[in-house]
Amino acid sequence: MRLPNMLDAAQRKAKANYIYENRTNRPIFKNKKYFIRTYGCQMNVHDSEEIKGLLETLGYSESENINKSDLIILNTCAIRENAHDKVFGFLGRLKHLKKSNPNLIISLCGCMAQEASVVTYIKEKHPYIDIVFGTHNISELPKMLEDYKGKQKINVDSKEGDVIEFDNLYKRDSNITAWVNIMYGCDKFCTYCIVPYTRGKQRSRKIKDILKEVNELKKAGYKEITLLGQNVNAYGKDLEEKLEFSTLLEQVSKTGIERIRFVTSHPWDFTDKMIDIIAKYDNIMPYIHLPVQSGSNRILKLMNRKYTREEYLNLFNKIKTKVNNVAITTDIIVGFPGETEEDFEETLNLVKECQFDGAFTFVFSARENTPASKMKDNLSLEEKNKRLQKLNKLINTYSKESNLKTLGTIQKVLVTSISEKDNKKVAGYTENMKLVNIDAPANTIGKIIDVKIKAAKSFSLDGIIEK
Ligand code: SAH
Ligand code: SF4
Ligand code: F3S
Repeated sequence: MRLPNMLDAAQRKAKANYIYENRTNRPIFKNKKYFIRTYGCQMNVHDSEEIKGLLETLGYSESENINKSDLIILNTCAIRENAHDKVFGFLGRLKHLKKSNPNLIISLCGCMAQEASVVTYIKEKHPYIDIVFGTHNISELPKMLEDYKGKQKINVDSKEGDVIEFDNLYKRDSNITAWVNIMYGCDKFCTYCIVPYTRGKQRSRKIKDILKEVNELKKAGYKEITLLGQNVNAYGKDLEEKLEFSTLLEQVSKTGIERIRFVTSHPWDFTDKMIDIIAKYDNIMPYIHLPVQSGSNRILKLMNRKYTREEYLNLFNKIKTKVNNVAITTDIIVGFPGETEEDFEETLNLVKECQFDGAFTFVFSARENTPASKMKDNLSLEEKNKRLQKLNKLINTYSKESNLKTLGTIQKVLVTSISEKDNKKVAGYTENMKLVNIDAPANTIGKIIDVKIKAAKSFSLDGIIEK
């Protein structure tokens, strides 16, 4: 699946340096507008913040309107098959737009751009897509735009280079909460997953660069940071200076930033020391997203998840016992190739045992060239969807139960925005990541306030400000 590696180390370094030498306003981009649509996970959301930062240092400004944009970028996800359909559906609309605006530049980037078959398909069938760049080529976007002469340009490297420091160049979506990458890529190779191919091998950022970024964010008034990685617990394993995620977490906590979160935690790399650090420091939030994927040992083995059901439950219970008021959510895949009724029952039983605060559930989707895509899959889509519905019903009862337990309590909420449900209210998250719509004035946005919980629904809470 990997494309040939086109650059040697020196060439890559020279290209990366380009952004530092050419960061100020470029006359050719002045008054130009860009529109960006982001699909997929937090990694992509944060990459888009980086792309926006790059474009704005060139002189572009952001537009919400595709009809009034000079450049449209789709930052894509490849995790499941239906991701492709959404993107090519939107591209169909853009193709028409180009007829009325021939100077419009259409660009596709992100994880789909790292799939060789997608690149071939674009070359052969979608000549109107002007610029394609991969997840390892973001820093080269300014140069690609400058060099663009109307002929389709594709710049996708198969191999990850060294970590490039962006010096807080991001245009962040919020001035209250911020994403902080601690690592890129993933070495786990779960058999169903495309991420190790689209994002490359694990590369951790240096601890000093992470701490510098967190300190700058704190100084700029940010209240909450989320440390980002596909598998944050494996942080540091690839660094020369051997250090663990728990050490990083402790150091980040000592910066004194008010709230620290982290995603995603792989159960296999979760150590007791990490649990102790999470329990010890008040500014590390008691919320852990701990994907289990399946409750059946047979399926976990086929998935190459590297833990058993018993090991997962042991870790889950340890976290619940040691971390006060912790909420744990998970990811589950149903209909993995060969999943029997008994395997699925084991997943349901595990959900009953854990009573997760929430879960993201997915029907297995065969991804190009992954080992699972070659496994025998006898189950009909109808049966898979039936299992998904049954699982979701169970998950929702526990989400609601967990929310009901907060009724009448006082929760510390970081208010982040006006409520989407009611524009006279504000919204924010509790320490353990429950969404609350609050009867409180707009000037509470950006503050951590005490909120009394008045009502609990499956996916959110209602509360009033407690003076
Ligand atoms: N790094 C994270 C997950 C990244 S992808 C982790 O290891 O937990 C987010 C979720 O998408 C996964 O947890 C998994 O549940 C789901 N997923 C990934 N590949 C999938 C596939 N081929 N089909 C269905 N769901 C998938
Ligand atoms: Fe994919 Fe597994 Fe890596 Fe998560 S840990 S990104 S599921 S390969
Ligand atoms: Fe999707 Fe890539 Fe994230 S495949 S889930 S955007 S790492």
